[in-house]
Amino acid sequence: MNKQWAAIEAIEPRRLTELFRVQPDRLSRLTIEEAGIRFDFAKTHLDPALIDAFIALAKARDFTGAREAFFAGKPVNVTEERAAEHPAERGQGIPDSVKRARQLHSRMRALIDAIEADAFGPIQQVLHIGIGGSALGPQLLIDVLGDEASRYDVAVVSNVDGAALQAVFDRFDPTATLVVMASKTFTTMETLLNARSALTWLEEGGVADPFGRVIALTASPDRALEFGIDETRILPFAESIGGRYSLWSAIGLPILISVGWENFRALLDGAADMDQHFRVAPIPENLPVILGLLGVWYIDFWDAQSHAVLPYSQDLELLPAYLQQLDMESNGKSVARNGKPVEMPTAPVVWGEPGTNGQHAFHQLLHQGTPLIPADFIVVAKGHTELGAEPTDQHQELLVANALAQTQALMLGREAAEVEAEMKTAGIDAATVARVVPFRVFSGNRPSTTMLMPELSPWHLGALIALYEHKIFVQGVIWGINSFDQWGVELGKKLANDILAGTGAARDASTAGLMALYDGMKKKR
Ligand code: F6P
Repeated sequence: MNKQWAAIEAIEPRRLTELFRVQPDRLSRLTIEEAGIRFDFAKTHLDPALIDAFIALAKARDFTGAREAFFAGKPVNVTEERAAEHPAERGQGIPDSVKRARQLHSRMRALIDAIEADAFGPIQQVLHIGIGGSALGPQLLIDVLGDEASRYDVAVVSNVDGAALQAVFDRFDPTATLVVMASKTFTTMETLLNARSALTWLEEGGVADPFGRVIALTASPDRALEFGIDETRILPFAESIGGRYSLWSAIGLPILISVGWENFRALLDGAADMDQHFRVAPIPENLPVILGLLGVWYIDFWDAQSHAVLPYSQDLELLPAYLQQLDMESNGKSVARNGKPVEMPTAPVVWGEPGTNGQHAFHQLLHQGTPLIPADFIVVAKGHTELGAEPTDQHQELLVANALAQTQALMLGREAAEVEAEMKTAGIDAATVARVVPFRVFSGNRPSTTMLMPELSPWHLGALIALYEHKIFVQGVIWGINSFDQWGVELGKKLANDILAGTGAARDASTAGLMALYDGMKKKR
């Protein structure tokens, strides 16, 4: 691995503008069409020498062997000795797992038929309670694909802050509400407390059998039974489905309720298309591999500390938050699969906001700041609302023009001579020009990837999310880490329980002082 790593390190990257100048066919070589999405890598520093070096690095890491083991349902999650079988939920995996997924999807559909037949009473509202991977996927997909004409109003509550639940209680009718309790482990304290409060709200709202209004989505059916939920209302899914990879499984029930089976099926099919592409496309044309290796390069060789996801679509406003968990909880690791410290930086901070909002918030730093921040611009040609539906709609034209302009400005920058000429033409005096020019120069040479899709359909979304899932897998293989466990979330949970029990504050004076102050504030309420 060191030889291949050194070979990449030896590559002297050229400026983006130079790469375009010396490679007239650059655009055609560095754009890939897959699942109806155009991926333009031309505004990154990719070039043939780098791609060859990446291929050697992937081979040194036995990438193809790791990918085969992944799709073959092998225990790639080495610390928990589990497979990672989210592709089986969309038909890409070992036959038994694919069959199990299909049976689960049938049970999901039957449950919805029962809801629609008023088996749970006159349901019009669905309160989905979950957090992390048990909420972010449903929240994202309902936000994007939820059909206003849908029979059901679906709300997702995650935070244990009572304000989150209260906001839904204020607008929902308990006699018309179904509660979906989503928790892979069925031990998450926030979800258990929110569910108990929802049960109380149902009872106080006049529901005679509150537990009869609760459906559980979990990989721990025994705990759901202990909690008091009848087994006919428990949708179990496999332990080999990671929480942050679970929207395709039972956790996706609120998506199914909100968008209907045809759209949920299209979501699965779009992801399956990307799965197949990832399994067979040669490395130089393999989208998850290129995205993954590009990320490794900028993180480990350009010292990029973060990665921006900038969806130029208001409907995708929750995508950065979804990808934060998917990426940072998968690859935010510093111990390699062999139990030794990793040899290089791993996952970056993933963040982002929809465009054009970011342009009026943080793009100053993207253009003229000191850190290099590679950015993914996700652009949708057809707006999701009637305003953006017409080709000549001004809103969509302005949105897309800004997205492309930002990627162009990041790459081209602007030199002092250009600024001087522009200011002189505007009649600004020489002294002011000399004084201001340094502040108006843009270094450029800042990389971005553009993903242009024709519309925000379930299919395109499924493909996009699967692309990021596999990009993260690729990076985990290159860094030699386990992308499918999350031991880093355990300590905080334990210490919170100790503090709640009144024993945790003793560990340090700061916490003890804060707890004492908090106790004093409570008394004054
Ligand atoms: O953040 C830790 C975590 O375990 C995530 O991996 C998971 O998605 C979330 O908490 C919720 O866990 P559960 O689905 O078991 O309630």
